[in-house]
Amino acid sequence: MSTMPVDPPALQHLLTLENLPRTQLVALLDRAQHYAGCGGDRTALAGTSVCTLFFEPSTRTRMSFQLAAQRLGADVLGFDASTSSARKGETARDTLKNIEAMGVRGFVVRHPGDGAVAELAAAADPGTALVNAGDGRSDHPTQGLLDMLTLRQAKGEDFSRLKVLIVGDVRHSRVARSDLQALRTLGSAGDAHARGIEIRVCGPRSLLPDDDTLAGCLVSDDLDAALEGVDAVMMLRLQRERMQEGLIASVDDYHRDYGLDARRLGRAAADAVVLHPGPVNRGVEITDEVADGPQSLILRQVRNGVAARMAVLDALLRR
Ligand code: CP
Repeated sequence: MSTMPVDPPALQHLLTLENLPRTQLVALLDRAQHYAGCGGDRTALAGTSVCTLFFEPSTRTRMSFQLAAQRLGADVLGFDASTSSARKGETARDTLKNIEAMGVRGFVVRHPGDGAVAELAAAADPGTALVNAGDGRSDHPTQGLLDMLTLRQAKGEDFSRLKVLIVGDVRHSRVARSDLQALRTLGSAGDAHARGIEIRVCGPRSLLPDDDTLAGCLVSDDLDAALEGVDAVMMLRLQRERMQEGLIASVDDYHRDYGLDARRLGRAAADAVVLHPGPVNRGVEITDEVADGPQSLILRQVRNGVAARMAVLDALLRR
């Protein structure tokens, strides 16, 4: 059994991976790897209550946080906006403050508004910890962590020589933003002779952001060319619920131009791996044969989500 990694520096909340120091990111990944190996520690958060406060749907994030908290010995409360007093007009802030008043110290929050989780964190008591479980298009830091853990297990700890391709609807993707932040941090060149990670991004221009999200990336709208020789392909879900009409001609056209099938995947390195955060639009951004094929790490990502979230809850809430 592995020994518990050294504690990372104290964090009150985890809202974003932007500007998270490399030492802290690596410490969280080391702790997640430890939990992936040992399965938990039911004494770590005994006596602590954690609430999953979700104002948007979720399967993977909510359930894996609930399991993670249970495997650390915490009491877990699930809040579902559709059956709560939010339906009567109670604000998210009042919801948080009322549950906090019951003695809950940890909140895992998903909200459709960009920056909404940071606003709630600013309203929380000093002893309360919030984890951003996805806010609007902005951040999904624990998805970024579990993706890095999965990539690290497959390709080793040195990301500086990797070629990673992110494909699809980056404009609406908080996952892509968190992945880009983490890849830049972990893939920076360790010395003057190293190249540093090569991050490629591919999608229709209408689905790529027009701000500085893609700074330093090699951007293309030609998927066949972008796939040449890459070590990892991170596919994104087409986020139709956040999309204005007209950004893509049709789902069929999108699949023809940006869908990953086995023929296209053959352009990547022979040992390339495929990731997707889920939920998967099968037959749109990825075919069944790739999603369920030998190079797919999609279910390993889901499994790693529990370990990554244990690491985060432990880092924020262990006294
Ligand atoms: N990847 C992800 O965030 O999935 P859920 O929306 O199901 O939580």
